[in-house]
Amino acid sequence: MPGTILITGANRGIGLEMTRQFAADGWQVFACSRDIPAADELRALREQYRKVQLFQLDVTDYDQMAALGKALWDQPIDILLNNAAYYGPKGVAFGTVDLDEWRRVLECNTIAPYKLAETFSRNVADSARKVIAVMSSKVGSIADNSSGGGYIYRSSKTAVNQVVKSLSVDLRGQDISVIALHPGWVKTAMGGPNALISAGESVAGLRKVLLETDLERSGRFYNYDGSEIPW
Ligand SMILES: NC(=O)c1ccc[n+]([C@@H]2O[C@H](COP(=O)([O-])OP(=O)(O)OC[C@H]3O[C@@H](n4cnc5c(N)ncnc54)[C@H](OP(=O)(O)O)[C@@H]3O)[C@@H](O)[C@H]2O)c1
Repeated sequence: MPGTILITGANRGIGLEMTRQFAADGWQVFACSRDIPAADELRALREQYRKVQLFQLDVTDYDQMAALGKALWDQPIDILLNNAAYYGPKGVAFGTVDLDEWRRVLECNTIAPYKLAETFSRNVADSARKVIAVMSSKVGSIADNSSGGGYIYRSSKTAVNQVVKSLSVDLRGQDISVIALHPGWVKTAMGGPNALISAGESVAGLRKVLLETDLERSGRFYNYDGSEIPW
């Protein structure tokens, strides 16, 4: 049964494809982007699907987030999907880390997902499915780190995994399930042209994971193919 999903960073990459696939399935999509006037493909989806609504949201602008929370205060949200993220500088090696960039990445990838959950948890609790999902990355898995490096992006995703775990404990009393997701290595601006899978393939798998999420699975980290990833 279709429901309502809120997606951040919906203007391109995985977020845009999520919007497309959920909208095609008849879902109401609250698609958020920090620059709606420039989001041509997203605006085209709104023209195509009447249940797509667009909202301006820079996830690191907490006043804007609070205002959106007020605007949507009476809307149940079945799936709250924190998708937006910033990689920061690429190819960062030991000894060349830009600390200001590190702080910027942590703000977007770690702190903002927490604030999003805080802002919209009541809407999720009022819904039928009650799911909060954070797009993490396998490179945030400590167990999986054998190649080192990537201090900035890796640490932001490791930290948000811990946020996911705590949210899963704290929100269980409201029957809210909270999971972390890895989309695979996906051909987007972030994944680059050498990535292994298309956004379409990734999102098809992620949607299945999202729709199967329940309290039993809460507090875990899932790959797009449904397998579990060690923290
Ligand atoms: N692609 C991969 O291989 C891969 C692998 C592992 C995990 N992931 C994760 O999957 C998610 C989606 O990645 P992607 O590949 O689709 O990346 P992408 O193509 O680089 O898109 C990133 C999205 O995040 C948005 N964003 C960045 N900073 C924002 C901010 N402050 N406020 C609001 N939106 C912001 C971007 O908006 P603008 O257009 O305005 O910049 C864009 O919509 C991310 O969480 C990423 O870490 C991706």
